Amino acid sequence: MNNPASAFHFTEFPGFEIAQKLIESGIFYKNSPRYDLHKGRGKRLGCIFLNPSLRTRISTQIAAENLGMESIVLNMDKEAWALEMEDGTLMNGNTVEHIKDAGGVLGSYFDFLAIRSFPTLSDKEADMNDKVLNKFIAATGKPIISLESALRHPLQSLADQITIQQHLPQGRKPKVVLTWAPHIKSLPHAVANSFAEWTLGMKHDLTITHPEGYELDEKFTEGASIEYDQSKALEDADFVYVKNWSSFRNYGKTPPVRDNWMLKESSLSQAKNAKVMHCLPVRRNLVLSDEILDGPRSLVQEQAANRVFSAQAVLSHMLDLTT
Ligand code: CP
Repeated sequence: MNNPASAFHFTEFPGFEIAQKLIESGIFYKNSPRYDLHKGRGKRLGCIFLNPSLRTRISTQIAAENLGMESIVLNMDKEAWALEMEDGTLMNGNTVEHIKDAGGVLGSYFDFLAIRSFPTLSDKEADMNDKVLNKFIAATGKPIISLESALRHPLQSLADQITIQQHLPQGRKPKVVLTWAPHIKSLPHAVANSFAEWTLGMKHDLTITHPEGYELDEKFTEGASIEYDQSKALEDADFVYVKNWSSFRNYGKTPPVRDNWMLKESSLSQAKNAKVMHCLPVRRNLVLSDEILDGPRSLVQEQAANRVFSAQAVLSHMLDLTT
């Protein structure tokens, strides 16, 4: 919402005060989901997916419904025409419709648009400029919510902060740890970037731990402690956020890692009260062990449930700004 292109886009951390209001609003809606059942009546939200989703798709639709808004999902990658993103090209290849044309049409159909566009993980410059998201912003002319872009996943991060807020230790600041985890594929940085951005933005202490070569873009981690020894990083943690990401420096690559970074119960011997978080989907016993996911430390189901109220808080705020 502090995007310089428009006051109405939710694509990144919106600043401490607005974020605090959104967290409070999310908790309010969690207790009274249908309190504002008529607030969005007559408004229509388009949810445009260029990549798969379970939580983001359904939670955003439920959030819209809780506010009386109509929502329509378009799986653009499967059901719509192949999009051309480059300007000035001769479109004699596989792309059928230019983003300028499709975006203009979508902008005329909807009051708000929500877009999911993952990174290429091969074109670093395009990803760092959030090229696809920004093409949609430019073409649609409507307030945009990011449903996860190349760089960030703000609705997930807001849900994560709502979750942390409801489990804060009494009388002291929490120690939050973001730990890299193994995976078999090259994964984006968006969830980790965004979690760091929001956690630091909310003035929590953040330690990030990962193997050498997996440093995140410093733009998102300035103010965090970086610790290459996972067991040291986990000492006295209150919240441990588990996520895989690929290398940023050696963009999209997965340099070999010797040690086993999968979080197990034994990894938390020096963090007796630590709660464990993950955005889901998660590959069990590769990224996170069954014992953690099925045990009392896990907040993953609560995080997923909070996705409804994070989206509801953002939609409600955007309705306030546009009416
Ligand atoms: N956490 C998350 O964004 O889940 P989906 O990819 O299923 O939407």
